[in-house]
Amino acid sequence: MQQRADQIRRDGHTVAFVPTMGYLHEGHVSLMKEARRQADRVILSIFVNPTQFGPNEDLDSYPRDPARDMALAEKAGVDLVFTPDRNTLYPGGYETYVIQTQLPEHLCGLSRPGHFRGVMTIVAKLFNIVKPHCAVFGQKDYQQLAVLRRMTADLNFDVRIIGAPTVRETDGLAMSSRNKYLSESQRTAAVCLFRSLDAARDLAEKGATESAALIKTATAAIEAAADTQIDYITICDPDTLEDVAVIDRPVLMAMAVRIGQTRLIDNMMLTPPA
Ligand code: PAF
Repeated sequence: MQQRADQIRRDGHTVAFVPTMGYLHEGHVSLMKEARRQADRVILSIFVNPTQFGPNEDLDSYPRDPARDMALAEKAGVDLVFTPDRNTLYPGGYETYVIQTQLPEHLCGLSRPGHFRGVMTIVAKLFNIVKPHCAVFGQKDYQQLAVLRRMTADLNFDVRIIGAPTVRETDGLAMSSRNKYLSESQRTAAVCLFRSLDAARDLAEKGATESAALIKTATAAIEAAADTQIDYITICDPDTLEDVAVIDRPVLMAMAVRIGQTRLIDNMMLTPPA
């Protein structure tokens, strides 16, 4: 892959990179299409990265469908799919990781210790292998995007980071490979994440300013849906991810909720009236 990347650059092409863990859906397709707009070569990676999963998480059961992934990538105009195996990226004796001190100490980082260390490590490695000019990540994983922007700036990676909007099902559920785990009734319940965010956005636009009140409203909406357990609901600064008590500027509302055993995340910007 490094040799191919060098050749592509020598030939004068620009490279947009979309790192994924596979089991591609329309959300990934939108990232690939954005990549297509950004550069004249698009490289997709598919690698279920073990270092970003905790000991009791779904590494072994993470959904996989390589044949379908290849077909979708081809249809979306991807030029090259990089599918390394675990031993190539983490051979015996591997001992180097990327850490960050502030942004991972919020939101998902609190209930998934080590997760962002794993994400940053694999993305840094992939950047060094694929050598892209830019890389596209989804805004659904808002904290991941923030952490990776910070890492890229702090470590002087010569890669432009592009955030692409969340793609939703028609009822509003954010697309995610993990939606596959949901039973029919859980799938129905799962729309509560979007609905509660949308309700909070509506209230904020009408002038509600107390984060606590909005979080209370969202909590009630989530708890009213079947089989749900809230991991966190936060209103925070979109840059630092620090909690915000009064909504006097655009803020981020983010949440993680378990529907049965499946942990889903979603987020939305809340903007007070001008
Ligand atoms: O968002 C994902 O699918 C993963 O976290 C990523 C960025 C591909 C790193 O493994």
